[in-house]
Amino acid sequence: MISVKELTKRYARNTAVDHISFEVEKGQIAGFLGPNGAGKTTTMRMLTCFLPPTSGTATVAGFDVLEQPLEVKKRIGYLPETPPLYPEMRTVEYLTFVGKLKGLSGSELRQRIDSVCERCAITDVKNKLLGKLSKGYRQRVGLAQAIIHNPEVLILDEPTAGLDPKQINETRELIRSLAGNHTIILSTHILPEVEQTCEKVIIINKGKLVATDSVSNLQSRARGVESMLVEVAGRNGDLDATKAQQKLEQVSGVSRVVFKERRENRSVFEVESCKDQFIRGDLARAVVQAGWDLNELRPASVSLEEIFLKLTTDQSGEPAQKAAAAGDAK
Ligand SMILES: Nc1ncnc2c1ncn2[C@@H]1O[C@H](COP(=O)(O)OP(=O)(O)OP(=O)(O)O)[C@@H](O)[C@H]1O
Ligand SMILES: [Mg+2]
Repeated sequence: MISVKELTKRYARNTAVDHISFEVEKGQIAGFLGPNGAGKTTTMRMLTCFLPPTSGTATVAGFDVLEQPLEVKKRIGYLPETPPLYPEMRTVEYLTFVGKLKGLSGSELRQRIDSVCERCAITDVKNKLLGKLSKGYRQRVGLAQAIIHNPEVLILDEPTAGLDPKQINETRELIRSLAGNHTIILSTHILPEVEQTCEKVIIINKGKLVATDSVSNLQSRARGVESMLVEVAGRNGDLDATKAQQKLEQVSGVSRVVFKERRENRSVFEVESCKDQFIRGDLARAVVQAGWDLNELRPASVSLEEIFLKLTTDQSGEPAQKAAAAGDAK
């Protein structure tokens, strides 16, 4: 549904987006991640035909953003970083104005306004001046205008920025409910949001693509090996942690055992296995046969945050974000 090939945007001396390529399938929600200044907004502005690419191509629903911008715009709902709201307009006037621009009229327009007001929880500010709305409400009106014409594709630049926790949840729910019929790209700095809402992740750093994959593939790729958390407890009193560690190390297929922590008579270990080795059964048997209790045995999860930091941190260990900021200052 969205296909980006070698897309590049250069400003005078700065390459904001540098030959990035990715695809988003119909009905998918893709999370667009990257530190400040990575090029997320610039990419989204090119996808929505607000900014011409320097080189490369992007197509939305089969239409090229440079050659058929009108066809693209018809099919896209865009929530910009700062929603373009006219302060002297009332919410309902603004939505009417945007709806008409998108080709809606009459009873269909009125119905769509009612429906988006309800979905975005802005019915109570329908008659308020936009200039007098709080930041969170402005954000919600921004979302309402993006979906007013029920577009096939939604491009949302930080849709939950400035919202309170309850609204963040409701907005996530709204976005999830739109998936399936709609194809969505959303940028965010809230990593758990991506884990909860998105099937796919696109990570960019300093204008370059660093990863595009499903959340679960990224996690296993970042790890490269399978790793399990194992909690072992002594039956009568203390557990000899060194002995337990040795026992776990002897299990076939185990490549490494790391002692994590000790809680009273229990010890927690992270056990890594060679890829494609299924060791859970053997681990459990080894613990029980040694006369200990197996309190817990579960895959150690790698958070998206760890992956993100790994992928967007310079080899020198300096966060990419700082490096980019230093570059900008020159
Ligand atoms: N109009 C412009 N002229 C020159 N440089 C620009 C312009 N707009 C953006 N840039 C530069 O392009 C780079 C990418 O900016 P962009 O706004 O796309 O980042 P972002 O990933 O959206 O960041 P954030 O998370 O802070 O929103 C930055 O280095 C920025 O300074
Ligand atoms: Mg941005």
